[in-house]
Amino acid sequence: MDRKMGVVTGAGGDIGLAVCEHLGKAGAAVLCVDREQALADKAAAAVTKHGGVAETMVADVTNEEQVYAYADRTRELWGEARFFFNNAGIEGHEGPLSTYPLDAWEQVMAVNVRGVFLGLKAMFPLLRHSQIARIVNTASVAGLIATPQIAAYGASKHAVIGLTKTAAVEYAPHDISVNALCPGPVDSSMMRRIEEGVAPGGATQARQGYETRIPAHRYASLAEVGSLATYMLLESPIYMTGQAIPLDGGMSIS
Ligand SMILES: NC(=O)c1ccc[n+]([C@@H]2O[C@H](COP(=O)([O-])OP(=O)(O)OC[C@H]3O[C@@H](n4cnc5c(N)ncnc54)[C@H](O)[C@@H]3O)[C@@H](O)[C@H]2O)c1
Repeated sequence: MDRKMGVVTGAGGDIGLAVCEHLGKAGAAVLCVDREQALADKAAAAVTKHGGVAETMVADVTNEEQVYAYADRTRELWGEARFFFNNAGIEGHEGPLSTYPLDAWEQVMAVNVRGVFLGLKAMFPLLRHSQIARIVNTASVAGLIATPQIAAYGASKHAVIGLTKTAAVEYAPHDISVNALCPGPVDSSMMRRIEEGVAPGGATQARQGYETRIPAHRYASLAEVGSLATYMLLESPIYMTGQAIPLDGGMSIS
């Protein structure tokens, strides 16, 4: 069997789990990385339950040593990687830009930008070792349009799209594609936290407000994100690179 091997960060979160499930169905071998062992274990269970092979690793993506440690572990396990889902991210603080706390800004930038940057660096030799390989960075519709109340998040996701373009150009000669997945709001715990954060006690109205801005009038499902991300990680044409792919019910173009 031609088993594809690769790494998923933020594997134990809602999107990570959905993608691990789909990767398992595709028979992939996945190094599930998260900041806590229990989260990495949950992701590994999602992979193996559906027929894949899983390994786990605890790493904080903001820590350079720990990022290189998950890349080293990949080398020990398989000698190469065919895919890399550079996905760990946090939403940070909700509130107006004029009072947005600096420490919250720095925390969001550390996980969402520094973490993605370090992953792109550390995983490159492993991906280059494969004949062809695919990287998907999780950006967001927040990387394409304005994000009132979550300034750091929006800025960080614009940065992820910028990094994606640079990495795509530098890695294309090595037959590595690099694309950004840009989901709109997903039916997930992160959105529950954002809704409550922007409208304490009024999460239902906040959700309705977001849904009104989406032409499809609903959030994306985790299954939709899992299936598109897995296609981008395992099957998309290598010639498709440097793209920010929205999965947003038309939100970014309306
Ligand atoms: N949920 C949404 O609506 C939505 C929409 C667009 C984009 N995204 C993006 O998708 C990605 C996954 O989000 P999610 O919805 O699964 O969120 P989530 O909070 O459910 O999962 C995030 C995962 O990342 C891990 N993580 C956070 N900081 C980390 C660190 N420093 N080191 C290692 N792991 C860390 C968490 O432990 C968690 O398992 C994020 O980049 C997010 O910004 C989410």
